[in-house]
Amino acid sequence: MSKKVVLAYSGGLDTSVAVRWMTEEMNVEVVAVAADVGQGGDWDVIKARALAAGAVDVVVVDVREEFARDFVGRALKANALYEGRYPLVSALSRPIIVKHLVEAARAHGADAVAHGCTGKGNDQVRFEVSTAALAPDLEVIAPVRGWGITREQSIDYARKWAIPVSVTKESPYSIDQNLWGRTIECGVLEDPWAQPPEDTFELTRPTATEPAELTITFDQGLPVALDGKTLGLSSLIGEVDRVVGSYGWGRIDMVENRRVGIKSREVYECPGALALLMAHADLESLTLERDLAHEKARLEPRWAELVYDGLWYSPLKAALDAFVEESQRHVSGDVRLRCEPGGRCFVAGRRSDVGLYDYTLATYEAADAFRHEDAEGFVRLWGLGVATWAARQARR
Ligand code: ARG
Repeated sequence: MSKKVVLAYSGGLDTSVAVRWMTEEMNVEVVAVAADVGQGGDWDVIKARALAAGAVDVVVVDVREEFARDFVGRALKANALYEGRYPLVSALSRPIIVKHLVEAARAHGADAVAHGCTGKGNDQVRFEVSTAALAPDLEVIAPVRGWGITREQSIDYARKWAIPVSVTKESPYSIDQNLWGRTIECGVLEDPWAQPPEDTFELTRPTATEPAELTITFDQGLPVALDGKTLGLSSLIGEVDRVVGSYGWGRIDMVENRRVGIKSREVYECPGALALLMAHADLESLTLERDLAHEKARLEPRWAELVYDGLWYSPLKAALDAFVEESQRHVSGDVRLRCEPGGRCFVAGRRSDVGLYDYTLATYEAADAFRHEDAEGFVRLWGLGVATWAARQARR
């Protein structure tokens, strides 16, 4: 009996060709597994394509709510930005795809999982390390990494096997998309000096002509309502994405350090993600005690780096998650975002019933309740060591 393989299937040229190629060249049966992480797309067309390519079965799993809650939600609580800028769009989706790939492998009694990544990127790392964590007994097959054929040859191969892929006027870019944003690579973008042409962008086309305000309500670190209306996390993200994106805000253009040692020019559009991250971090400035805030800020880049590096399922990441979760107990309240034509989006105000801002301590007006007499002794003791050093040792 031939081996059974579950393939993470996107519906694109590479994974479609991979279905036929593995079936022919490796004599395996391929089950195609596609996960809906909010990338959009016609799932009936994608299913039909996988079958036309030779898959023995196709599984489409709608994981949008799970992705929002268990993956994106954690990234938001951790204010996660790789190298200070990239909100981990693709890095967040790979571990959930692997989770469902492994489930499908079990359900179909498969011997191996497969992915369509090349050898130059981070996604192969995320797929394989996540599989090693969740199902160490499963073999991993990476046909695209091994096959060494050009895009032209891929297209010919698809034609030869009558795989219906629409490649005639395909995007000149390599795109990955989900609830948390859109990543754009390749083509003219490979020159870091070249400005990304406007056709690079889909989510951030500036169409709004009037300013707008959005009030985002957070409960324990997660956004739960928009302008007073309760929304599920994935719809809320979609709505913020749409509004903020219409101001042309939320683009990132950076040269990024991949895990495999390559520097790469990356363009992202993540209006919803960046707006929510900005709002969340702002609310923390009001609700987190100082030492907790400072320690959390030190750990956040580490969290982002672990996830970027494919270590979603790892002991350090789990321990950091526990810290982040505990830190969010009082991150509840409202943040007012203002968007203005010309590509502006900023926090215009914040409030919280459990905020640590105390007007009577902060004010310089008559309501002042701060005990000014306490300050004198505090400052003298705070500076006592320095004063002693200055008297005895400081060079003048
Ligand atoms: N550079 C980003 C990352 O490593 C984006 C990767 C996009 N992936 C893709 N298969 N097109 O997370």
